[in-house]
Amino acid sequence: MPKKVGLIGCGVIGTVLAEAIQRKLVVCDGLVVFDVDASKAEKLKASLDFPVTIVPNVDALLAAKPKVVVEAASQQAVKEYAEKIVAKNIDLIVMSTGALLSLNIQSSKLHFPAGAIGGLDALASAVNAGIDEVTLTSRKPPKALGKTNTQATVVYEGAAEEAAKLFPREMNVAATLALTVKPAKVNVQVVSDPAVKRNTHEISVKWRFGEMFLRFANDPHPDNPHTSALAAWSAINLLKKMTDS
Ligand SMILES: NC(=O)c1ccc[n+]([C@@H]2O[C@H](COP(=O)([O-])OP(=O)(O)OC[C@H]3O[C@@H](n4cnc5c(N)ncnc54)[C@H](O)[C@@H]3O)[C@@H](O)[C@H]2O)c1
Repeated sequence: MPKKVGLIGCGVIGTVLAEAIQRKLVVCDGLVVFDVDASKAEKLKASLDFPVTIVPNVDALLAAKPKVVVEAASQQAVKEYAEKIVAKNIDLIVMSTGALLSLNIQSSKLHFPAGAIGGLDALASAVNAGIDEVTLTSRKPPKALGKTNTQATVVYEGAAEEAAKLFPREMNVAATLALTVKPAKVNVQVVSDPAVKRNTHEISVKWRFGEMFLRFANDPHPDNPHTSALAAWSAINLLKKMTDS
């Protein structure tokens, strides 16, 4: 049976992912794409020279029977389409993880990659023994947060669930952490810092048998400073595993 990949969202992550298919980093027989902005889908198709089908909605995407669908669109897209996709028994990779905090989807077909961070295996292991405290400090250049401050400024302090709502494009990292360590809570601090060029995430964990400190300094994607290149590569890595299996 042909192995097709479905893609919702033809922006930065969708484009990097499609380029990985073009370079055969991910092996599949074709891509079926949907974007609410049809011009984004047209532009992506025009840049590729393997079979790409543009569809006008998610129902048409599912009718093409993809092996796996990647959501690289928005939290709204996850809210609108996720249940429908997993109900068809199709694997779904979610990038806009913030949406999953308010949805209660229990399905082995639902997957999310580590995104712009990593080390989730160690955190997931620690959950079994008991986690006391998780803190995420994210420092981003003001431009990546839509700010213009000239001094380092704390723009948010609070819980991951609220951070993901207030910063839907920037705080999927907080959501991914929260989904991994639940029922433990994640305390988040967001700093708009003109001194940093990279999107920097520091994660401190105190758990029953030790402590962890993880740090990621990611180049923002030139076409979308909200998004770190690592997020797209993490989606590619997960898609590769799922299409190989
Ligand atoms: N998990 C992570 O660590 C992580 C990291 C970076 C970005 N993200 C998230 O991944 C998503 C994609 O990021 P990006 O940088 O590629 O964004 P982008 O803005 O470059 O592209 C998103 C595309 O999706 C389309 N779109 C938006 N809503 C849609 C909908 N309801 N249905 C269909 N198409 C829709 C837009 O028209 C756009 O072309 C964003 O939600 C972003 O916040 C997650």
